[in-house]
Amino acid sequence: MFNKIAIIGGSGNVGSHIAFLGAIRGIAREIALFSIDTPRCKGVGLDISQAAAVFNLPTHIKGYESYEGLSESEVVIITAGIPRTPNMTRDDLLLKNASIVREISQNIAKIAPDALLLIVSNPLDAMCLVAKHASGFDSQRVVGMAGVLDGARLNYESKVVLNDFQTPIKPYVLGAHSDDMLPLLRFSLYGDKPLAAILDSDMQQYLIKETKNGGAKIVSYYQQGSAYFAPASAAIKMLELVTNPQDEDIVCSVYVQGEYDLHDIYIGLPVKLGKKGVEKIVNLTLNKQEQEMLKISAQGIKKQVEILKNNGLLN
Ligand code: NAI
Ligand code: 2OP
Repeated sequence: MFNKIAIIGGSGNVGSHIAFLGAIRGIAREIALFSIDTPRCKGVGLDISQAAAVFNLPTHIKGYESYEGLSESEVVIITAGIPRTPNMTRDDLLLKNASIVREISQNIAKIAPDALLLIVSNPLDAMCLVAKHASGFDSQRVVGMAGVLDGARLNYESKVVLNDFQTPIKPYVLGAHSDDMLPLLRFSLYGDKPLAAILDSDMQQYLIKETKNGGAKIVSYYQQGSAYFAPASAAIKMLELVTNPQDEDIVCSVYVQGEYDLHDIYIGLPVKLGKKGVEKIVNLTLNKQEQEMLKISAQGIKKQVEILKNNGLLN
């Protein structure tokens, strides 16, 4: 159990659900919430604290009106951002969220200099790089959530197709958190068998499509906003592996310096998480086609990085 974690964007959908699930799972003694919407942060804190009291859980969830309240947090989760509005391009959103994540990361570096930063805000992989630069933190202590979520979507769709909700599935979805993500059925295990070995090619293509489409489907149902139960669960799963490391690799957005022949970006790869954050990037032996697809996935992230550099949000 952590002593204290903080959520910036804690009044929003993903942030508040991380706080709620975090309390239920006993992730920390205190969960500090902060966002630009102070009254809602305070309300969410009180509401979840009252929920925790129903079960006599030992967690205090509290909304703060300034960054000072977040001091001594061992983990800071950033879910802050704005949604895309009809008059905004994707690049507008990239720039706007990058300036939000940059400012937050600079403040966190002052108030919680030893924290692990867990980034959720989109576009995820680019936001991780912004957070690393702006905080000045070692890359081991800046990690992004997406692969666990995208993997859960592959896991769920496989369960439906196989009509089996009992057998555990271990998914691997690598690459960018974008349409260029790589659901790897050759490595994803149904029990101890690769999904690629038990499903025909049409079914595999179907699963890949449904995995990529998993977030968009939720948006089309909700109409306003995107998924939050599954993203919050994925963030808590990552934190549980940080406090209680296991011999289990999971896919997170991590900084690469030559791994998988990729350099100086954040991208989704299997890692071992532990007390220090990213303990190790795990190497999967990709075939030529998979390597090529990972490169294409990385190119999309690199384009965003270029836009951020051209606009002075990264150096
Ligand atoms: P939301 O709109 O419900 O919440 C956003 C929160 O950010 C609000 O609490 C708002 O007050 C806060 N905020 C905005 N500007 C801020 C600032 N300058 N400083 C502090 N707080 C600020 O959005 P939701 O649904 O919670 O999503 C949050 C982010 O997470 C979005 O960027 C979304 O695209 C992303 N996301 C990423 C996922 C992933 O797999 N990495 C999955 C789901 C969402
Ligand atoms: C998702 O995949 C919006 O990134 C978010 O649901």
